[in-house]
Amino acid sequence: MKIGNLHLSNNLIMAPLAGITDLAFRSIVRRYGCGLCYTEMVSADGLVRGHRATFSYLRSDPGDRPLIAQIFGSDPDVLAAAARAIEEGGLADAVDINMGCPVKPVIRRGAGAALMRDAEKVRLIVQATRKATTLPLTVKIRAGWSPKEKNALEIARIAEQEGADAIAVHPRTASQGFSGRSDWSVIAEVKAALTIPVIGNGDVERPDDVSAMIDSTGCDAVMIGRSALGNPWIFRNALRLRAGEGTELADLEEKVRLIGEHLERSVGLYGEETGVKCFRKHLFWYTRGLRGSATFRKEAGTILGKSNVLAKVSAYFEELAGGSAEEKKALDFSGNLNISFNQSEAFPRPGPGGTEER
Ligand SMILES: Cc1cc2nc3c(=O)[nH]c(=O)nc-3n(C[C@H](O)[C@H](O)[C@H](O)COP(=O)(O)O)c2cc1C
Repeated sequence: MKIGNLHLSNNLIMAPLAGITDLAFRSIVRRYGCGLCYTEMVSADGLVRGHRATFSYLRSDPGDRPLIAQIFGSDPDVLAAAARAIEEGGLADAVDINMGCPVKPVIRRGAGAALMRDAEKVRLIVQATRKATTLPLTVKIRAGWSPKEKNALEIARIAEQEGADAIAVHPRTASQGFSGRSDWSVIAEVKAALTIPVIGNGDVERPDDVSAMIDSTGCDAVMIGRSALGNPWIFRNALRLRAGEGTELADLEEKVRLIGEHLERSVGLYGEETGVKCFRKHLFWYTRGLRGSATFRKEAGTILGKSNVLAKVSAYFEELAGGSAEEKKALDFSGNLNISFNQSEAFPRPGPGGTEER
């Protein structure tokens, strides 16, 4: 699979998740076979103004490839300049423009999903950004603004005409936020009309949903968001299913090893204090559904210091390992996490800075 001149080893993509898909998280999902990652969304304005906090959201390393940097904004010149800065700084392999974010701080600036209400602006933005960079350029959209304004096809066509190399479609309307279900027929409609690759997204909960989405929409690649939280194995299992193999559940040993490594990477990225705090949400997701996890989370949620967290995790997993084989089997999960976010919960900020500084 190719996006512009960018080769992907497979067509399973980790969705951009603000406050979550940092370098530490990306290194984990890549290990399990994810073929492409996005950065968290960053403010084009912040990049152009040279804000250090904004650049920090784009931190990467040589193993963190292929990587798309996602920018948001509403001014064509600013988005274009941000794309140029990403290319000149060698910060990513491709640039994505966020046209799907429904949260107020972004919408208020006329950015994210608000752009879907202004097709002419979309044209100017893609045109200007296309001119500004030789990197592959992608756009991530929703089904539209509201049930009465569903124009994914129109926006996707404009993006293609103006030189975008791929389109990702999350087929909920902005007004839906994260409620209801994704309408995969919108992905099929966009795919049928475009020649550039179409990335399907929305409610892929289990490894077998990947082929279900490809079969029902014809999309070229599948983007997974919430179901990868605490469950990076979804990529490995989707690849195994495709190869005609069965899924492989992560055992407790693998989980505890991965938790340690993810925490280590988080601390490496942000320093001990912030790294531990940023990691807490991941720890909750990794332990979701496990026996006694509610008590564990309550206790682990206030622990400071990497070694204290690790000690707590080891003690908890040792206790779990003492359970019967039947019980341990029941503890395992693979997909279908059913993690839901409402709009106010979405986009929690991890380290320093909020949406305004992005
Ligand atoms: C916490 C959270 C943060 C998100 N951040 C972004 C973002 O920065 N950029 C973006 O384009 N979409 C963002 N999204 C939307 C996801 O990329 C994805 O489109 C959506 O979650 C649907 O996919 P899923 O059902 O696989 O989770 C976010 C979603 C959530 C829940």
